[in-house]
Amino acid sequence: MNLAITVNGARHQVDARPETPLLYVLRDDLGLNGPKYGCGLGQCGACTVQLDGKAIFSCVTPVGAVGDRPVRTVEGLGTSDRMSPLQQAFLDEQAAQCGYCIAGMIMRAQALLDADPHPTEQKIRAHMQTNLCRCGTHMRILRAIRRVAGIASDGAA
Ligand code: FES
Ligand code: FES
Repeated sequence: MNLAITVNGARHQVDARPETPLLYVLRDDLGLNGPKYGCGLGQCGACTVQLDGKAIFSCVTPVGAVGDRPVRTVEGLGTSDRMSPLQQAFLDEQAAQCGYCIAGMIMRAQALLDADPHPTEQKIRAHMQTNLCRCGTHMRILRAIRRVAGIASDGAA
């Protein structure tokens, strides 16, 4: 079935069954390999992208449910030449070990920062708890988000 979706500001026609996970379409049809397949069950966050500004698990979101709402992946945030402030903070804090979780972490954190540029430490932790890092770099990830949120590393604003 021919479906139209808007990803990172560009309209795409894709040939996919409506129940196909959005993640598969992003990776296999559009070549956007930032979002990763981890669990495929909405339990790890590796596949996180934004749908209409909200962080979602693209592995359990059928492409047919996207409609006209815009999708944003990490590729739509910045490039290696022109990183977004959050991407730069992840780099500066050396948040990645293997890197598998990082695109999902960034997209979830960015959704929070877009809605609330100065979230509290508690709010950041609550928002990020759906995304797992199997390498255990959570503290470095939190430091990167704090940096953009303007929170000192001891948690004080
Ligand atoms: Fe989507 Fe794990 S791959 S939540
Ligand atoms: Fe390896 Fe997070 S850096 S899973």
